[in-house]
Amino acid sequence: MLPQEYISSFSVDQRLAPYDIKGSIAHVAMLSKQTIVSASDAKKIIEGLQSIAKDLEAGKKIPPAEDIHFAVEQELIKRIGETAKKMHTARSRNDQVVLDLKLYLLDVTETALKKVQNVQKSILELALKNQEVLMPGFTHLQHAQAVYFSHYILAYAWMLQRDAERLLDQKKRLEVSPLGACALAGTSFPIDREETAKLLGFKAITENSIDSVADRDFVTEFTFICSLTMVHLSRISEELIIWSNLEFNYVTLGEEYTSGSSIMPQKRNPDTLELVRGKTSRAIGSLVSLLTLLKAQPLAYNRDLQEDKVSLFDAVDTTLVSLDVMEGVFKTLKVNKKEMEASCDYGFLLATECADYLTRKGLPFREAHSIVSKIVAYLLKDGKDFSALDIKTLKSYSPLFEEDFFNILSVRKSTELKNSYGGTGILALSNQIKKLQSLLKK
Ligand code: ARG
Repeated sequence: MLPQEYISSFSVDQRLAPYDIKGSIAHVAMLSKQTIVSASDAKKIIEGLQSIAKDLEAGKKIPPAEDIHFAVEQELIKRIGETAKKMHTARSRNDQVVLDLKLYLLDVTETALKKVQNVQKSILELALKNQEVLMPGFTHLQHAQAVYFSHYILAYAWMLQRDAERLLDQKKRLEVSPLGACALAGTSFPIDREETAKLLGFKAITENSIDSVADRDFVTEFTFICSLTMVHLSRISEELIIWSNLEFNYVTLGEEYTSGSSIMPQKRNPDTLELVRGKTSRAIGSLVSLLTLLKAQPLAYNRDLQEDKVSLFDAVDTTLVSLDVMEGVFKTLKVNKKEMEASCDYGFLLATECADYLTRKGLPFREAHSIVSKIVAYLLKDGKDFSALDIKTLKSYSPLFEEDFFNILSVRKSTELKNSYGGTGILALSNQIKKLQSLLKK
């Protein structure tokens, strides 16, 4: 490989072209307003840039160069001649590349927000369709207490809600224009940084030119958000993979989200979910790369920083397509109500209710817990459940047991009643759904 090929980032950063052109148009408009370049030169440059943008939009390519900034400039020289060279007055590729990245990420933020919401909506829709289906809730992957399936999967919608909030929050840091920091020191030309910031839709301008060109925190932060979102999707994936296993059989995945085995004719493998789980490693890898890239790097700009885009773009691309896939998975997921509810019949899901029963009769909870543990151990020995108990046996464990004990032995009823705020009970659940619906309408 030739050194200039090694140095070139064009194959990676060409996707920044529209943002690069937009930034240059604003920069030249400002230069003209400040009479740093003449109005007629500015017009020529801006029209040239607009024609390049139009061609790129139509799918035409521009010849490669060391990077996208040089490629656009060379194309402009080809189209309008020497005047094009005035475009780079009072600017450096160092502030230019930060500008491009911020504009790009502002766009991606909107796309990502929409996609996160689409997954949330598909979860909500599935929850509404199966609102009162019961299933065992797990801790330590052991049967714990029964919950509504809808409550269970809505946990993931709230997880994603935090991802959406993180996306919104980091926008504050994207909306600060670095343009005018130049190479690292600013410039003696009478530029108007506020003007370019305004033209490009930024809310503020950076305070320190050195920090402006050295900062890749926003790249790292965005990649972190991608990583955490992917981690969330991987948790969903893992769960659905387990649930679609024959031993569970809680759900059936949409046919198109599975694929067959090349040797075992009966198999439908959850490949898409396995890939979401697998691709999560790419986003996490990107995050680690970026942190490592920045670690101990001296100020201000160093060419190391060019590597940021490899990591960022891969994390962004991986996350955006995975969100699409997950939306489709939820839209086509079939809930196997019978199997889910049947597995509430074992595993002593009502053990806590039994302890609560004794607590309501005045026994301290710790003691109630220990009595019920003994009863469960006794039942387990014979492979029986609470329904096998008679009042005589119960009284041998505690005189507080009475006939009304048998009224609490309904998984459905016990679930219905857990209406503490955020709980799985019918009322709490419907509040939760309303809250999420209103958030998703915003
Ligand atoms: N392609 C470079 C990057 O992505 C742009 C900045 C180049 N600046 C420089 N002084 N060589 O970081």
